[in-house]
Amino acid sequence: MTKKTYSLMLHGGAGALDNISSGKEADEYMASIQRVLEHGRTILAHGGSAVEAVEVCATDLENDPLFNAGCGSVLNEDGHVEMDAAIMEGVKLAAGGVAAIHNIANPIQLARLVMEHSEHVLLIKGGAQRFAKRHGVEEIPDEYFITEYRLKQFEKAAQSGQVILDHESADADNKFGTIGAVAYDQNGNLAAGTSTGGIVNKYFGRVGDSPIIGSGVYADNATCAVSATGYGEDFMRTVLAKTASDLIEFQGLDARQATAKAIQYLTDKVKGRGGIILIDRHGLCAAGYTTKRMVHGWIEHGGESICTFK
Ligand code: GLY
Repeated sequence: MTKKTYSLMLHGGAGALDNISSGKEADEYMASIQRVLEHGRTILAHGGSAVEAVEVCATDLENDPLFNAGCGSVLNEDGHVEMDAAIMEGVKLAAGGVAAIHNIANPIQLARLVMEHSEHVLLIKGGAQRFAKRHGVEEIPDEYFITEYRLKQFEKAAQSGQVILDHESADADNKFGTIGAVAYDQNGNLAAGTSTGGIVNKYFGRVGDSPIIGSGVYADNATCAVSATGYGEDFMRTVLAKTASDLIEFQGLDARQATAKAIQYLTDKVKGRGGIILIDRHGLCAAGYTTKRMVHGWIEHGGESICTFK
């Protein structure tokens, strides 16, 4: 009998990240990813499910203002936070997502409620807010979400009239976009989750790839679990998370081969900007990106946790 094991991967965004690729800020990002990986380990090592690990890890990252999700979300053209998130599990391909929501501390938790307590996959704006209220999810005041850093970033973007990626801002103030988690539990089940504030100065009502099943997130026990980060429109146009899964399903590729080929596809088709983390049905971890760097970390088969900017 093979030994039961678990794997976990996280990302905190992709981009040039030149200004934080070393030094104190880099240490803060690495420490946060490391801390969340170890939190996820406590769940998976004790027999918790992949869905639980993904939800808990994504919640931790949403609660850390360093990242563009939850309380650190970027601002839209009106100077407001609008967030997207989705979660998916690989047993039954159950999925839930929320888009263009506001004043919800943990969009990933609301996405899980949609997955488990509705017959729908995706709820947006007022519909998602109403669903949250029905399920006792409280609305949190704006002050919780809008950090000083995000206000300055938005003002610069608005002045220059640009819609920009969090990690490729107008003044080369290269920062992140999106958080994500993928997990493989001791029962061999996979799950994936992605959560984001989107892109800086985006149109009111713009929805990115993160809540779109198959674009920014995907999980199927027969193939893999994937979470994406980067310029959402590129990932939507290439349905990249499902493309990576299909490479395993139909071409029999392993985690690293499928990730490399999916990233090549992203480049060839749309010169896409961003990356993915992926765990395959054997618990093997892989990461790929077209940007200079991606903040990510992993635990493969219960081994040591590894975090990197590279
Ligand atoms: N990948 C996050 C977004 O474009 O919204």
